[in-house]
Amino acid sequence: MQHTSGNSQSPRLAVLVSGHARGSNLQSLIDAYNAGILATSVVLVIGTNSDCKALERAQAAGIETIVISPNKPGRTDEGYGECISKALIRRNVDIVCLLGYMRRLPTHVVTNFKYRILNIHPSLLPLFGGQGMYGHNVHAAVIESGVKVTGVTVHLVDEDYDTGPILIQRVVDVLDEDTPETLAARVLECEHRAIVDAVRLVAETGIKIVGRRVVKSSTLISQEQSN
Ligand code: GRF
Repeated sequence: MQHTSGNSQSPRLAVLVSGHARGSNLQSLIDAYNAGILATSVVLVIGTNSDCKALERAQAAGIETIVISPNKPGRTDEGYGECISKALIRRNVDIVCLLGYMRRLPTHVVTNFKYRILNIHPSLLPLFGGQGMYGHNVHAAVIESGVKVTGVTVHLVDEDYDTGPILIQRVVDVLDEDTPETLAARVLECEHRAIVDAVRLVAETGIKIVGRRVVKSSTLISQEQSN
């Protein structure tokens, strides 16, 4: 599969958030672009709820925002997915980042943007992932388990929770005195760097998907054919 931007311009990035997302990872992408560290700009942020700090951050940066509610009366999951896909396609979006999007993404979007959707998760997947594993729950489970390291995973999105091919992982020590809150704060700092690195890898360096592995490639996004 070939990247579809179809011209020499920088890839166009959209960010999806849900609920009252705080938007600190979005802010990291905005800051990296403004600092010239990232050539890929966020052109659209889609939320599920208008009362949302992430949407405020986007608006302050002059980025278009839209709200698509999955709970609109009469709207099915398929219909919700179609609305998201249409909004992304209409704006020629190349890459999508789920940054604080705590829902299963509708199949319609996953299929339309196969291997072009990234999710960030605050643990070293496949550990401490899956439905219900977000925020405090993740860090409390990490401490409870006794592991000495945790971290950040950025992965490509498939149709399940936290199961797609892994792009980037970064390790964070679990300290004896950690609480879920102190650990979450250190992991979040690490997320802010990891998401920028992951977007650069996918949108600017190039990746190839070989089975479950993601490796660097000179083509922006490609998949090795299986025999
Ligand atoms: C992050 O911890 C991320 O790992 C998870 O949701 C949180 C979003 O934080 N998927 P923010 O809204 O980017 O501050």
